[in-house]
Amino acid sequence: MNSATAPNFPFARVKAVEPPSEFFELRSTCPISRVKLWDKSEPWLVVKHEDICNVLSDTRLSKERQRPGFPEMTPGGKAAAKNRPTNMVSEAFDKVHLSHLKPFIRKTVNAFIDNLMKIGCETPVNLVEHFSSPIPLLVICHILGIPAEDIAYLTEMNAVRTNGSSTAAAAQDANRDILGYLEKLVDKRSEDLKDDIISTLIVEQLNPGHIEKLDVIQIAFLLLVAGNATTANMINLGVVTLLENPAQLEDLKQNPSLAPAFVEELCRYHTASAFATRRVAKVDITLRGQTIKAGEGIIASNQSANRDEDVFPDPDKFNLHRKVDPAKNLAFGFGDHRCIAEALARAELETVFDSLFQKLPNLRLAINHHEIKYSDPYRDVGIVELPVIW
Ligand code: HEM
Repeated sequence: MNSATAPNFPFARVKAVEPPSEFFELRSTCPISRVKLWDKSEPWLVVKHEDICNVLSDTRLSKERQRPGFPEMTPGGKAAAKNRPTNMVSEAFDKVHLSHLKPFIRKTVNAFIDNLMKIGCETPVNLVEHFSSPIPLLVICHILGIPAEDIAYLTEMNAVRTNGSSTAAAAQDANRDILGYLEKLVDKRSEDLKDDIISTLIVEQLNPGHIEKLDVIQIAFLLLVAGNATTANMINLGVVTLLENPAQLEDLKQNPSLAPAFVEELCRYHTASAFATRRVAKVDITLRGQTIKAGEGIIASNQSANRDEDVFPDPDKFNLHRKVDPAKNLAFGFGDHRCIAEALARAELETVFDSLFQKLPNLRLAINHHEIKYSDPYRDVGIVELPVIW
């Protein structure tokens, strides 16, 4: 495929949550092809599960976004990634002990469900605002040691930077405000250490001189913003998917221990972080007989891989009884760069889905399914607003 014919990418989701149909066609006709991005660059798009696993575990490919040729999805991408201390983030996250966190996650989810019950459902409640968005934010704030009284402010700033209706300038200001807030918090923790990631980074990395204060701020920032929207989207999509599959919802209500299997299938089916698995070649490589030259970008579509009919029979059918092998589910990536917070995100989602419909068995949409407001069809699949009653 040459420049004249390379199609624009991202492709659009034509139906609300369905991955773009181009993936289906390319899997059988042209598993490695060129696509054209917003900046007219033409990285390779890889759509078969097997090839994507090879790409994501190939050490001759790089995830460094400053390398020329790394495919950026938006004009602001490179600048936003400039000082991302990714390796340090994963080291910092290794210190998070999920067993200590699980009771906090359970308590938080229960508190939000109780709050919904308290609000009552005389008028519809927006689940995005009152449940799915605040839970992941509260959990990561707890991990970082952000005081409870500051969470409302961060929730507001986070909404400005992520909701699609803010201007680019407003989103940038919100980023700057959050960074400013975190700088003050790092100063405060330096004087008064606590049992949280920021204090650990100060004691183990900053004080011995391994990293600088700006690194601590940026690690905290990345953790604060990296996965909230995706986790919240998975909660929203999970609720809607269950309501659209009443027999499976009934199975889950009867047997909440199916929640991990449900979450596994949910993450496969919706693949809500569909543009993170990108690389650039450090040297020439060959993939499926195709030469990819040093400096050329690759988009390894985990969204396409998770619907690959060679790996998942009847892939477009949602089936919580499918028994998906977590190693084959590419929702969280594959290989060394697999999402650092996968276990945390899974714990949050499993807790939500083993309890939400237990406590609110009549939870349902307050609108028709076709009225649900989905995210922009060129971006990650998600739900913007979800009015419910129970
Ligand atoms: C359901 C929720 C989530 C999904 C589906 C998800 C998915 C992903 C994927 C596909 C990647 C890219 C892996 C690669 O490049 O090969 C990634 C990276 C990452 N994720 Fe997650 N993630 C989720 C939640 C979270 C949460 C809650 C956090 C933070 C607390 C987080 C932090 C990160 C970070 C820091 C990276 C590396 C980013 C970078 O290299 O720039 N993720 N995630």
